[in-house]
Order: sequence, then C-alpha cells, then structure tokens
Amino acid sequence: MISLTNTMTKTIKNICCIGAGYVGGPTMAVIAQKCPEIKVHVVDINESRVAAWNDPNVEHIPIYEPGLSEIVAETRDRNLFFSTKVDEAIDQADIIFISVNTPTKTYGIGKGMAADLKFIELCARQIARVAKTDKIIVEKSTLPVRTAEALKDILHNTGNGVNFQILSNPEFLAEGTAIDDLLDPDRILIGGDTHTAEGQAAMQTLVDVYAHWVPKAQILTTNVWSSELSKLTANAFLAQRISSINAMSEICEKTGANVDEVARAIGMDSRIGSKFLKSSVGFGGSCFQKDILNLVYISKSLGLQEVADYWEQVIILNDHQKLRFAKNIVKTLYNTVSGKQIAMLGWAFKKDTNDTRESAAIYVSDYLLSEQADVIVYDPKVKTEQIYADLEYLGHHDSETIRQRVKVVKTAKEACQNAHAIAVMTEWDEFKSLDWKSIYDDMYKPAFVFDGRRILDQTSMEALGFNVNIIGN
Ligand code: UDX
Ligand code: ADP
Repeated sequence: MISLTNTMTKTIKNICCIGAGYVGGPTMAVIAQKCPEIKVHVVDINESRVAAWNDPNVEHIPIYEPGLSEIVAETRDRNLFFSTKVDEAIDQADIIFISVNTPTKTYGIGKGMAADLKFIELCARQIARVAKTDKIIVEKSTLPVRTAEALKDILHNTGNGVNFQILSNPEFLAEGTAIDDLLDPDRILIGGDTHTAEGQAAMQTLVDVYAHWVPKAQILTTNVWSSELSKLTANAFLAQRISSINAMSEICEKTGANVDEVARAIGMDSRIGSKFLKSSVGFGGSCFQKDILNLVYISKSLGLQEVADYWEQVIILNDHQKLRFAKNIVKTLYNTVSGKQIAMLGWAFKKDTNDTRESAAIYVSDYLLSEQADVIVYDPKVKTEQIYADLEYLGHHDSETIRQRVKVVKTAKEACQNAHAIAVMTEWDEFKSLDWKSIYDDMYKPAFVFDGRRILDQTSMEALGFNVNIIGN
C-alpha cells in the first residue's frame, strides 16, 4: 500500500454527491452523520426521487434499508441536503462524488457486456462546465479499469484553469446491510495519483473524511487502477462463490447430499471460510452480473480469451440455476402450469431491500408466464408498479398479458390462497414464521412448495402435507 506522508490537505466544508441512488443516498447519509461540520449535498436529475428523499415522513424515502431512515431523520436539513440543483452543488463543493448508474450497455459495441458510461461522461462534462475552483472528483460507481483516465481527459481539457484530482473510492456496501457496512467497513479503498504531491494530498483529504469514524489501519490507499480493478475483483470472487455452491446444489439434488451440510463442512476450513456459501435460486442485484460481464469484456478487449471464458462461466451457471428452478416447477406440476396459480413469495433480489434489479423472481416469473401460468406476487417492500415494470422490461410479454396474468397482493397468505404451488424467491424473515398449516389448507392439492432460498424445514413442511422441493436437497 502507498503511504501518504507530509501531505498538505485541504479543510473540507462542502461535499457534493451526484446520484441519489442505492449507493449515493446511504453513503452520504453516513458521511453527514459522522462529519457534522461538513455540508453534504446529494443531487439527482430525477425530480420524484429527490422529492421522496425530502418527504417529511422519513419512512417514505425512496430506498428501504434498515437504519437509513433514522440517520436521514437526524441529518437531513442539518448538514445533509437533497436537491435537483446539480450545478449549484458542483460549484460549492470541495469534493464531488460520482454515484450515478453504470448499467450494462444495451446497444452498440460491447452490447450486453460493457458498462455504459454515458451517465458518468455527462457528469464529467457538467463538472467541467460549472467548476470555477479546484475539485477532488471521486469515482464511487463501479467502473471499468481506466475510467479515471477518461474522466481526466474530459476534465482537463476544459481550459478554464481549474485543477481536478481524480480518486477511485469503490463502495463495498451490500444492500440490506448498507448502514452497518458503512458504519463498520472491512476496509475503505482509495486509489489516486500516487506519483504527485497533489494526488497524494487529494487522497489524504479523503482519508481524513473517513477517519472521522474508520480506524486508519482499515483505510487502504493504492494507485487508481488497482482500486478500480479491486472492486471488480471483489464482486467477481463473491459471485463465483455463489455459483460454485450452486453448482454443488445440483449435484446434491441428484445424489442425496445436502448442500448446507456440504457448505458447513467446507466453510470450517479457515482457508475457505463460511460466508457467502448459501445456495439459492441464483444471485441478483445491480452489481454481480454487471461487474462480471464488464470483467469479461475487459478481458476480451485485452485479448485474454481464456480469462474471459473463466469468468463468463460464473454468469452461465447463475442463469442455469434460475432456469432450472423454473423448469423444475413446470416439470413437477405434471409438465403444465397453464392456467395454474403460482404464488411468488418475495420479489426483491435479497431480503431487507426494495431493490429488484436482476432479481431471480423476475426471470422465473417470466418463464412461468411463457408457460401460461397465473402468477401471484407478494413482497413486503417492493411496489406493484416496479413488479410490472421489471417484467415489461424483459420484453417477452406485452403489458396487457402481464397485467392480466400477474397479480400483486398485500400478504403472503393472500398470495397462496387457491395456489397450486408456492415459490419462495426472497429470504424475507417473515416467510419463516408463516402459518403454513392454514396456507396448506387454502391450496389446491397436491400442494407444492419450491424453496429457492432454503429457509423452510423439509420435514415439518412434509408433515403438514406439502410436496416439498428445496434447492440443494
Ligand atoms: C454486492 C457485494 O456484496 C457488495 O460488496 C458490493 O458493494 C455490491 O454487490 P449486493 O448485491 O447488494 O452486494 O448484495 P449481496 O449480499 O452481495 O447479494 C447478492 C446476491 O447474491 C443476492 O441475490 C443474494 O441473495 C445472493 N447470495 C448471497 C446468495 O445466493 N448466496 C449467498 O451466500 C450470498
Ligand atoms: P446505484 O445503485 O449505483 O446507486 P441507482 O440507479 O440507484 O444506482 O442511482 C443512480 C442515480 O443517479 C439515479 O437516481 C439517477 O437519476 C442519477 N443520475 C444519473 N445521471 C445523472 C446526472 N447526470 N446527474 C445527476 N444524477 C444522475
């Protein structure tokens, strides 16, 4: 790691964050809480999102994340501000975080693989246009390696004499535990221009912000490329563990082994470790798939075909896991679900979030719709319109069919009423303690349950009369 010595740092009074999403919102709320002397402005072009962040009732903020609304209640309008006035916030800021979305490209070169950097570039051009004083620009969004170079090019060619230092400070928070992850991070990673005094000073300035609450030993400083690549690597390794255990889940199903027992046995090997070995219907979320596709694209661009193929297999296995779960439902229900009612318990990509990006529930439901099933969805935090939008986005079924065949209800019990089968898609805690006996009584018989999250107990569910299919059993 680079050690930063004798650097002159700047006193930070104003921070701006462009992008009030799942990363920008929680991260800035925690910075505002821990650095009361700094004013933190979170800006976004999405007016309704900003309005929701400013809703007098903090329970209505646009992101559900345990502990977040309390911090917003404490800091909002004290030193945390949400607005659409992007230019104003850029102008006043000493540090500008860029936390805009970087989805996978859906067009042109790199379609379906490369990260789409148009939102990042627009931010850079806006900063270049507006800034009148020196700024530290922080890449927060996950970006392909060497994006900082592109940012630098745009910013330094403005000709208005302003100095920009570009830092990479990837976010490692996981949704659902974002606040804990931010308050007590395993590490903070800051990459910058380590060869110049200005670069080192900028890094030290950002170190000083985090040092308000993070022990210095946990704040790592590296060159900017290492930092960018570390983020992609961390997500690729994490996703790879899930695909590895999911590959084993299929072998378990065919052999009589139990995937949790296998996970426990290998997890006690301290070299392997016990975390992130929960077999499931497949990983979702905005990061894993996008980042691996991006890594595959980078590898291919560098002529590293074997490396690209290696990482691509993590995605192939994940898609296979979702598809085989859906196919198993159809096969088990006597090869047809046409006109049958399937209850989907959970729509979010994991518990304790209202985020649905890349959620397995979307793909499984889409498949069931192709088989003419009626899908009844219950999720405690996801809004009805989001569910329809997710299915419409795939483009396999028209809006009318989706709205006819998919119903969204307010309780798990309601979803399961008159169902032929239940699919557990998200591991929400409340699903573990449902009144399964009365749910069973209200279903068509034989009553099937497909647990894509391994939260149900096979023996007791069978004792109630259910025909039970648990992934990895
Ligand atoms: C991930 C990384 O964990 C985080 O460090 C990074 O900053 C962003 O991407 P996130 O996608 O929010 O975070 O959630 P995560 O907890 O990693 O879960 C991702 C997906 O994997 C979820 O669908 C989850 O259900 C699934 N998962 C996770 C499993 O199927 N099994 C596991 O053992 C762990
Ligand atoms: P993430 O999970 O990375 O935080 P989100 O999609 O939740 O991603 O949030 C990104 C936010 O960035 C969105 O609310 C979007 O409106 C905002 N955004 C994108 N481009 C710009 C821009 N040029 N200026 C301001 N906000 C932007």
